[in-house]
Amino acid sequence: MDRIRIVGGRPLRGRIAISGAKNAALPLMTAALLTDEPLILENVPRLTDVRTLGRLLAELGMGFDMEELPRGADGSGGDRMRLSAANITSTTASYELVSKMRASFWVLGPLVARFGEAKVSLPGGCAIGARPVDLYIKGLEKMGCEIDLAEGYVIARAPKGGLKGAVIRSPLVSVGATHTLMMAATLANGVTVLENAAREPEVADLADCLNAMGAKIEGAGTSSIRIEGVKKLGGTTHHVLPDRIETGSYAMAAAMTGGEVTLTGTRPDTIEAALTVMRAAGVEARVKGDEITVRRNGSRLQAVDVVTQVYPGFPTDLQAQFMALMTLAEGDTEITETIFENRFMHVQELARVGANISLHGDKAIVHGVEKLKGAPVMASDLRASAALIIAGLAAEGETIINRVYHLDRGFERIEDKLGLCGADIQRLSN
Ligand code: UD1
Repeated sequence: MDRIRIVGGRPLRGRIAISGAKNAALPLMTAALLTDEPLILENVPRLTDVRTLGRLLAELGMGFDMEELPRGADGSGGDRMRLSAANITSTTASYELVSKMRASFWVLGPLVARFGEAKVSLPGGCAIGARPVDLYIKGLEKMGCEIDLAEGYVIARAPKGGLKGAVIRSPLVSVGATHTLMMAATLANGVTVLENAAREPEVADLADCLNAMGAKIEGAGTSSIRIEGVKKLGGTTHHVLPDRIETGSYAMAAAMTGGEVTLTGTRPDTIEAALTVMRAAGVEARVKGDEITVRRNGSRLQAVDVVTQVYPGFPTDLQAQFMALMTLAEGDTEITETIFENRFMHVQELARVGANISLHGDKAIVHGVEKLKGAPVMASDLRASAALIIAGLAAEGETIINRVYHLDRGFERIEDKLGLCGADIQRLSN
């Protein structure tokens, strides 16, 4: 099993090209199920989560071509994917594949909308809390679906004549339920309104693609989305949104080590909450067009409290990385996790490199220390792995990160991108 070895202490200097967003690419791939015409996605990141979903879609009969395009010297560029759901042979998504990654569950919406039925295994994914699917089920029921739960599968049947438009008010904001219900509503009879919808940029990106396919969606990116159902959707070519979580992770890596890094090909407006917090901690972050230059001039970081929130608040997907950054800050940082319970598994691993963090329910208090010291650590989930990399880059001596497969789910060529900026980082294969 691959491991990553880092010898810390080198300031990062250079340019890092940001890849397409995993969390945008995955729902976009499932959207291909809504049409019998080809959907072409560009700027697709090369990640195991993308391959896992590709395998699941292929199992359903999706034609799936991945053109792996060469990357620029700075790591820029992405792959081109052609998806064709002209000959879907199955509407059952198996436990074996869905349990690997929660986003596979999102095929439920498009399948039931276009084919009138779907049988999808209950999801798996990162071990970061209970993550139920009640909002998906209640939403689809409101659109007239009959839903059964049997042997770990959700079985959904649309009414005769297809799904019906409905007003669906969600008691809490869910990105996945918003994606799923928005996709389902594109082919429903009549108008659907999603109230208290997720405002994440990935929802707006999906809506842009669906509209280019012929859907009639208004308000995506706000908390109220109106979808007027259409009879049929067609194909299109769509460029995947840049990854705001990758952007934030590298911004924090640069801030952690000192030096100066320019993040290119990103969408600075999607990462404002994190940049604001980083600036308050003493990091310089300059935005110019689609670039962000992050710099820390040797002075010590200051502790800044953070509460994770739905977009446009501080993202839960950067909580672990920010915690790593604050391990070396002056003072105590209070980090409150409001989105997922149990998303503090990185705390004990950060302690192994010398961080001083105490846990109190949904709060972690990081007591800043003067230095970290390299150690063997274990990645517990995707974003936690990035936190360990950030800590390792600043720790004295050698840090070995085990269970790197978590990292490969969501960060394209992380060791190459950091290596280009002067980090002493290698992948050890065995
Ligand atoms: C997506 C992102 C993930 C991110 C999360 C929150 C992808 C592939 N994943 O995950 O990286 O951390 O948004 O920004 O885009 N909930 C329910 N019932 C439901 C659905 C959700 O109670 O039916 C709860 C969850 O347990 C959680 C909260 O709602 O506490 C938010 O989860 P949600 O936004 O659905 O996360 P995902 O879409 O799974």
